[in-house]
Amino acid sequence: MESRKIVDLFAADPQRFATFHIRLDDILFDFSKHRVTAETIGLLVALAQASGLEAKRAALFAGEIVNPTEHRPALHMALRNLTDAPMLAEGKDVMPEVRAERAKVEAFGEAVRNGEIKAANGERFTDIVNIGIGGSDLGPAMAARALAPFIADHLTLHFVSNVDGADLGDTLKRLPLATSLFIICSKTFTTQETMANAASAREIVAKKLGEAAVADHFCAVSTQLDKIAAFGIRSDRVFGFWDWVGGRYSIWSSIGLSLAIGIGAEKFEKFLLGGQDIDTHFQTAPLAENVPVLMALLGVWYHNFWGFATHAVIPYDQRMARFPAYLQQLEMESNGKSARLSAEAPALATAPILFGEPGTNGQHAFFQALHQGTEIVPIDFLVAAQPSAADAKHHQLLFANCLAQSEALMRGRPLAEVEAKLREAGASAETIATLAPHKVFEGNRPSSTFLYKRLSPRVLGQLIALYEHKVFVQSVIWNINPFDQWGVELGKELASRLVPIVADKSRATDELDTSTAGLIAEMRKLAKG
Ligand code: F6P
Repeated sequence: MESRKIVDLFAADPQRFATFHIRLDDILFDFSKHRVTAETIGLLVALAQASGLEAKRAALFAGEIVNPTEHRPALHMALRNLTDAPMLAEGKDVMPEVRAERAKVEAFGEAVRNGEIKAANGERFTDIVNIGIGGSDLGPAMAARALAPFIADHLTLHFVSNVDGADLGDTLKRLPLATSLFIICSKTFTTQETMANAASAREIVAKKLGEAAVADHFCAVSTQLDKIAAFGIRSDRVFGFWDWVGGRYSIWSSIGLSLAIGIGAEKFEKFLLGGQDIDTHFQTAPLAENVPVLMALLGVWYHNFWGFATHAVIPYDQRMARFPAYLQQLEMESNGKSARLSAEAPALATAPILFGEPGTNGQHAFFQALHQGTEIVPIDFLVAAQPSAADAKHHQLLFANCLAQSEALMRGRPLAEVEAKLREAGASAETIATLAPHKVFEGNRPSSTFLYKRLSPRVLGQLIALYEHKVFVQSVIWNINPFDQWGVELGKELASRLVPIVADKSRATDELDTSTAGLIAEMRKLAKG
């Protein structure tokens, strides 16, 4: 494909768009602006088959242990199974427990929404504060922003994640504490940042509203129910999930409680239904027409065959502003690994660096590099057909910009065209000679476009699940375990070792490397001033 340009593929085949797009309910996936032909897709599909994708997909859905380093299945699909069908984790049907927990979350959410469950002062809750980090924050935070038009007008959702006291402090300043409900979300209930934020929030509530108010103002979500008891949260305000749900796959579980309160049970189920739609598609569509499989294969194509090291996700949808951050955890915590599942498998580059910002903002920041930089960045554009706000004029501008970017990236602007334009504008031969090279766009830069009807709960559920299964397919080809995250452990361990040294200025630092010791010494000096 090196000698073939995407524009030439379009010129040679008027049916190219028709061939290279797939419609999935309200989402259209256009993958025609890629460096592929039908033959390329066929070969990539053969690669997926040779990697054992079909058997591994079956094992995933059968609840087998697909996370061998933690000895667990990965069955987040059960959380969005709204059918009567059983789903087994290591042979046991988990659906009765899943349904019971979902019913609890929805009932509690509705009661908070409609004011049946009240604050200690007898008033209705107005503000919901989710305290969590990573998967216990990014999912609900991203989805709450994406689905803002569906959130009840009388409720405001807040998300506190960073251990930096500014996060909780600045949030508390905005809150009417007397009508705020805190949800502590942590799968393990040991995460340093969340435990610190939860303890501080509890202290403030006890101080300002009285110790007795704590029971009314806190609830918790975790798989470690015994640890919650020690925090003093009422047992009917505790929501569970299971160790077969990875943190970054937990938005579908009780971790979605803040979202369920905000958008209500009916819309929350629509969101789950979107995830279920994609599970069915992923399991049943032929591989060459299977959207998450194609997303994964295009990623493998560019990362492993062309050596492109990054991938951008650009939603032309301001409410999807946190989607790239959400995907960073999903893709890079899942597949950013070097250890292979079997030593004989080839060592392939895994998990390209994912980044993104909403369009059109990105256009006025880093798009220069996407158009003319030396690094080629394959892009996913996301855009709605219907505006979520009422202003159609803004949406026309937004939509046209989205299409203009993928077109410009693909077609570029060759030197001869630049020179002709400069001549037309009356530039001198000398100006043309010096300026023209700077105005050349080489083009042939690939992108996919996801065009959806509007950003509804169901469409959001579909989009998230598409990326989840994409990540799984890539993990199969790269022969890695996408469901563990040992790479975060060393930093956590070293932070725990440094906390007492940072806290106590009399503690020696001789055992540390000279950079770390030098920085601590300087911090001790500066902290005095
Ligand atoms: O440190 C990474 C991580 O373990 C993520 O995988 C997880 O989503 C996040 O921390 C939060 O963990 P928890 O929900 O247990 O507090």
